[in-house]
Parts: sequence; C-alpha cells; structure tokens
Amino acid sequence: MNHHENFTLIGPFTQILTMTNLPEAGAITDDELDVLEDGGIVVCDGVIKMVGKYNVLLKVAQEEHHNFEKITEPMVLLPGLVDAHTHICFAGSRANDYAMRVAGKSYLEIARNGGGILDSVRKTREATIVELVGLLKKRCDRHLAEGVTTCEVKSGYGLTVDDELKMLEAIKLVNKHHEIDLVPTCLAAHMRPPEYSDSNVYLQHVLEELLPQVKEQELANRVDIFIEDTAFTERESLEYLLAAKELGFDITVHADQFSTDGSKVAAEVGAVSADHLEASGEAEIALLKEAGVVATVLPGASLGLGMHYAPARKMLDGGLCVAIATDWNPGSAPMGDLLLQAALIGASEKLTIPETIAAITTRAAKALNLKDRGCLAKGQVADFIAFPTSNYKEILYFQGKLKPTIVWKRGEKVQVTIP
Ligand code: NIG
Ligand code: FE
Repeated sequence: MNHHENFTLIGPFTQILTMTNLPEAGAITDDELDVLEDGGIVVCDGVIKMVGKYNVLLKVAQEEHHNFEKITEPMVLLPGLVDAHTHICFAGSRANDYAMRVAGKSYLEIARNGGGILDSVRKTREATIVELVGLLKKRCDRHLAEGVTTCEVKSGYGLTVDDELKMLEAIKLVNKHHEIDLVPTCLAAHMRPPEYSDSNVYLQHVLEELLPQVKEQELANRVDIFIEDTAFTERESLEYLLAAKELGFDITVHADQFSTDGSKVAAEVGAVSADHLEASGEAEIALLKEAGVVATVLPGASLGLGMHYAPARKMLDGGLCVAIATDWNPGSAPMGDLLLQAALIGASEKLTIPETIAAITTRAAKALNLKDRGCLAKGQVADFIAFPTSNYKEILYFQGKLKPTIVWKRGEKVQVTIP
C-alpha cells in the first residue's frame, strides 16, 4: 500500500461536463463546452484529485491500489449545482398573497397594504429557532436531492437584531448538521420594519447593533439590501452598503426588480452580484459590466409573479457573467427548483446549453465569491451529480424533469429521496 490508499476512482461516465476552460463572463458557444467522453474522477478526503479518461485513470488506480466506485449505467456527470440566491429560512405560507395576485393585485400593492414580506416577518418572528431549523432542513433535503450541493440563504424575515440573529443562527446550525453547504447572507435591509418610521434610523441601528455581532460570531460575511419603492432608496442603500463594506462584508443587492436604481448602487459599491434585474436595460447592463458585478437572474420570481424574465441574453451579449438562482422564498418564488427554472429561462431567453449550465455551476459559484467549487478539476470540492442519460443535451431538454439520480457531496454519495 502506498499513500494513495484513500483515493477512490468513480466511473466510468458516458460524458463528464467539467465546466472548465470556459470564459468567466459573456456568451458561450456550444463548441466551447468540453465534453469528456468515457471519463472518470478520482477523489480523496472530499477533494477532486484527477479528472480524465476512465481507462487511463483505471491503470493508475490499479497500480496504486485505489478504491473503486463502479458506475454501471450510462450517465452524465456535472458539478454539483449552486443556488446563489434563496430565502429558504422562513415560517408560514403566503398562499393568501398568491390568491390576491392572481385575482389582480400587484406584488407591490400587497406589500404597501402590510402583506407581502411583512407577513412572513410576522410568522418568522413567532417561530422558535428549533422550528426554523426544522423548516430549513426540509428545504435543504429537497434541494440536495435535486442536485444543489451549495445554497445561499438570506436572513431578512426578522428585521430586529434578535430575530435576524435567530435566523442566521438557524442557518448556521443546519449548515453544521446537513450535507449541503449553506452560504449565509444578512438581509436585515429587506424592508423597513413597522417599528421604525425612518429608514435611515433603522439602517443605522443595523449597522451599529447587528452587523458587528454578525461579524464577530461569524454568522455571515455577505450583506444584501432590497432597493425598491417599497423598501430602500438608492441614497439610503448606498450609504448603508458602503458602511457594511467598510466592516468587511461582501455586498450583494436586490436590484432592478421593478425599477432601475439598484444596479447603479451595486456598480458604485462594487457589489459581488446584483440580483433580479428584470427591469434592467442597456444602460444598467453597461454599468454592471464596467464594475465587474455578476448578474444573477431569478426566473422563479418571474414565474411566481407572472412577469417577464430578466434579459439574460442581452446581458451575456453585453459581456456580463450571468448566474441563475431560484430566489426560493414564500412570496414571489415558492417553487425552488433550480434545474427546472434554468431550463425555462434558457428556452425563453435563448441561452445556449453551456451558458445555462455555467449559470448554475461555475458562474453561480462566482456570484458567491467561492473559488473552490463550480467546476470539476483538481483541487475543487468533490461535489458532483449524475444524470441517467448518455447525452448531456437531454438534461435541459427535459425541462427539469430529468433529475440527477446520484449526488456526491465532498466525495460521498448522499441518499437521494425527494421529500
Ligand atoms: O427576492 N424582492 C424582494 N425579496 C424577495 C421576495 C421576498 C418575499 O416576497 O418574501 C425576492 O423576490
Ligand atoms: Fe430575493
């Protein structure tokens, strides 16, 4: 035996999409996609050691006494999916909002009448941390079974120091005990809570009383804000985000969902990503491009609110790095199926297959500033998913109904049962 005894060779796979050697931003043509036929992957201690032709890896593996995990059916391997924007730590349902929306009220009207986000705030404040952990864990079970191995989760339904901390602690607890990796984000600036009449006073309170604790207890290293008529203005947001950045947080913004001030702020503060962007046009795309901000589009919110998608095609042609995320939340996007939503926006916006897959793997990892995942290459976290097909084109073609049947998290197979 030698020092390679902990190595495991997994394969053969009919095709492996490594998602390496792709442009970091802008359009991707079909022939830029590397398709490794009859490939294998070697892992050790949760990290990828080698990716290559199965036959070549097999020889090495036999000589060096690796372990084997044999794949006996035709399968296509992809990196584990990354959902770069969710709000899945919440209590309650907003089915009543849904009924009002389909009967003709708009999302913003419902919000102005004290429904919408504030309704979820009331229910999340009432929930204990144990209840929140249980609810979040269930949603993580489903996400992981559907191939999402890394998931961002925002606070933002607490809107008091204690309730925001409760949410972030629930996220931390689930992250510790669940196979999925959660990336927490503090969204205390989701809306001005009813206890405050002045947004600036509330934001100042968050900056002084909440964010230092979030930092100190390592509950999140990302800060988000919702810039919109019913939430925060361009000016309030800019000051808040610059101060949060000063405290050492990465910045992300809910931008341009209905009106276009958000992307300007995102560009000005040097946000890692600007998310939503349904209302963005050429000027906004140019600003984001100039500032190197990742554009994260959220088809789930468009589907939930019955509105058009963000202009993802124009964004790619304008040179942006486009990620696709679910925005899974109780209000605008209750579905939370990343693969299905990626397939749908891809069909409508005419995104190439590599553009869509990059948007939920490599480019989604970039939206979270994560450098150790998103593609299959030496040194990357061993998160990958296998689909029961011999042609990668079938994955999006089936519009999300062809699910991965094996999911590996840090090199270990996880039990896939969709709750
Ligand atoms: O990203 N736009 C603001 N926030 C969430 C919705 C949250 C909610 O409605 O509960 C979003 O769509
Ligand atoms: Fe959101």
